[in-house]
Parts: sequence; C-alpha cells; structure tokens
Amino acid sequence: MELNKQSDWVARSLRSVWHPCTQMQHHETVPLIPVKSGKGAWLYDHEGRRYLDAISSWWVNLFGHANPRINAALKDQLDTLEHAMLAGFTHEPVIELSEKLSALTGHVLGHSFYASDGASAVEIALKMSFHSWRNNGKSGKQEFVCLKGSYHGETIGALAVTDVALFKDAYGPLLRASQTVMSPDARNAAPGETAEDMAHKAAADVERLFIERADKIAAIIIEPLVQCATGMAMHDPLYLKLVRELCDRHSVHLILDEIAVGCGRTGTFFACEQAGVWPDFLCLSKGISGGYLPLSLVMTRDEIYQSFYSNDVTRGFLHSHSYTGNPLACRAALATLQIFEEDDVLAANRVKAARLTAALQPLAQHKQVRNFRQRGMIWAFDAIDATPDFSRRFFATAVEHELLMRPIGSTVYMMPPYILNDEEIDGLAANTLAVFDKVMAG
Ligand SMILES: Cc1ncc(COP(=O)(O)O)c(C=O)c1O
Repeated sequence: MELNKQSDWVARSLRSVWHPCTQMQHHETVPLIPVKSGKGAWLYDHEGRRYLDAISSWWVNLFGHANPRINAALKDQLDTLEHAMLAGFTHEPVIELSEKLSALTGHVLGHSFYASDGASAVEIALKMSFHSWRNNGKSGKQEFVCLKGSYHGETIGALAVTDVALFKDAYGPLLRASQTVMSPDARNAAPGETAEDMAHKAAADVERLFIERADKIAAIIIEPLVQCATGMAMHDPLYLKLVRELCDRHSVHLILDEIAVGCGRTGTFFACEQAGVWPDFLCLSKGISGGYLPLSLVMTRDEIYQSFYSNDVTRGFLHSHSYTGNPLACRAALATLQIFEEDDVLAANRVKAARLTAALQPLAQHKQVRNFRQRGMIWAFDAIDATPDFSRRFFATAVEHELLMRPIGSTVYMMPPYILNDEEIDGLAANTLAVFDKVMAG
C-alpha cells in the first residue's frame, strides 16, 4: 500500500520535531508543510505543490534555493576542508571573507569575529563593548540601550536588548535590565510631522538618556533603517547620523545589528551606508551565507581591537564557538559576495523593487490597508482591524495561493530573494492581494 508521503512526514515531524517560534498546538489547524526540495525562489512539497519563498526563509536566502554558483563553491570546499578550529589555526575562506568585508567598509571595520547565528553575534558585540570599556579603565560602563520594539535575538543576553513582549515577558526574571528609548518609527509621526522629525525626536530621547547616565552606558544597539521583527518599522537614515554624533559626544559605543537589514536588503550593501556612518560594532548573519549555512560575525574598528591586544590573557576576548569561522559557511559567503559583484545586484534590485512596488499599488491603495511602506527589498503594510489570528489565517491562505508568507501580527511583509523574474514579481503581488482579500473577508 502506498503511503501518503506528505501526511506521513507531517505526522512524523509533529511527533518528534519541536518547531521554532510556534505554539505547537496551532498545528491542529495551521498546516505544516514538509519541504522536499527548493529551486530558485520556489520550495516544493512532497506532493509537487510549490510555494514562492516571499520571505526568503526567515530573511536568509538571497539568491534562491539550490543556487548553482553557491552549490559549486560548496562542493569544491567540501572536498578541500569542511572544518578546522579557528583558535591557533586559520584558513583561506575565513581570511578572504574577512578581507572582503573589511574592504566593503573602506577598512573602517577591519576586524571580524565569527559565530554561527545572529543572537550569538549580538552577544559578542555586547560582551566586546563592555570588555573594551573595562580594558580602558571604564568598568562602570555596564548598561545597554535598545529601541522600543527592538529585536536582537532570543538568547538571554540578546533578549535583554529585545523589546518584543511576546518573546521577552516570559523570561523577564532571567534578564538583565536595559534602557529602552523611543523608536524613530516613521509610522508614529503626528499629522504634519515627517520621518525626519521623528528622527530628531527619537534622537533627543537618546540624548536625554546619555546626558543623564552615559558614564554607565557601554553601548546602544540599533537595527538600522528597518526594525524588522517588530513589524518592519522603518525610519529615516538621519536618525543613525544623529545617534552616531551622540555616541561620539558621550563616549558610548554604537552597535548596528545588520543581521536582517545587511547584505543589500535595504538597497545598499550595509544599511548604515545610507546614513553615511559606521558603527563601532556591526553584526551580520542571515543573508551573508546566501541562506545556506549558519554564519554570523561582528565587525569592529581597530581601536576596539587594540583595547584587547595585550600580554595579559584576561584582557583578550576569550569568547568562542566550536564552529567559529566554519570554512564551508565562509565559502558560501564568498560565493554570495561574488554574485553581488558579478551581477551588480544592488542596481538590478532597484529595477525589481520598482516593478514590485508598482504591482503592489492595489494593496497600497486598499481601504483595509494603512502604512504601505518599502525600503530596498522590503515591503510591508498593516491590515486595518485585523483579527488576533490574522497572521495564522494569512499563512494558511497564502500556502493555498503558492506563497510562503508569515505576517507579524497585523503587518504583512515581503522580503523576497533577489532573483525574482518579472512573472514571479507580478504573481507575488497578485497573489498577495488575493490572499489579503480572502483573509479580510473572513
Ligand atoms: C535584527 C535581528 N537580530 C538578531 C536576530 C537573531 O538571529 P538568529 O535568529 O540567527 O539568532 C534576528 C533574527 O531574526 C534579527 O532579525
């Protein structure tokens, strides 16, 4: 007797796999899709149905699934060196990647420290900031500042600088307190106010805090241009410029979390380029390996690096992860950067973005939509009067329309891979409208 493979995989998964960011009981009504394969922007299940990966599989996949160029680089690397520890040893992929990334910052951020996931990169940046101040005789600088609605990951340290109640509240008793300042989210502008006005207001909030207690603050951490996980809250680049000036004036480190917004997502390779500033620490992950392998890193300045450079082992940064600088992941990242160079991806994305924005106009003008917004390769809008289960119903309806999309609360967003063709762009817009209408009609 032939087994229904699809339902078999679902049942086995639900029995043994504890899925992330999921109330498992919801799978009694929300479908679980067993993915058999991926090609380009599409994922395929065991029954041959396909799903356009409109959110790049949690924002990691830049150049499609089974990308031939990244595949070839990985196959070659696999036959050369799969892994070697990075303490006492080094290797070509990690050196080349560090050099290339440094060059992309004009060598301002010339030192890269590696880990595997985004939250670990955030932990590293927080620890490095504190330790650097301590090595410089300022051990009283122990606090961190984050933005309202910020999301920087879910390990204990990263969660302390995250301000999303759904993820944070249950673990409140475990977390170190941090200072929270207002978000420059342009949606909160009062009538007659601009996004730039919001940037000034939010920067004034930072200034108030710095005047009061900069001697106790090690760093402020910001997700530049788009606070993604809180619901694609976008702000004016001016905010970053103003905060950079405040950090310089009050001796506070600036950590920019470009885990989601880096790698071309906002239109420039690094989001902070649009503000003309560099941070003291820049966290990268997700797209840097093309969505292939877990890789994260923190890039920092020479002054920070020098503050650890000593004969004394305890002044060193002794943090480590077993897979630090994994050669396969670094090689995937090098192949990803090569595609950026060879295909002039940032320019090509501007053309794709204009087409998708135009195709989404029926949604932008929809009477049940507010705050339609776009930056680079991120689109979002908020549903008016969405029901509490809007996100789940949208997901379930989207899969019926060949789409992988997961709204955040009542915010529908798209973060597609950079390889959509015209037909896929138009299909994405038309299907999103159809799904939205169906869900809003109940
Ligand atoms: C801005 C930002 N920082 C940190 C993280 C944490 O990354 P990871 O899920 O790889 O730990 C995420 C993940 O979505 C993120 O969006």
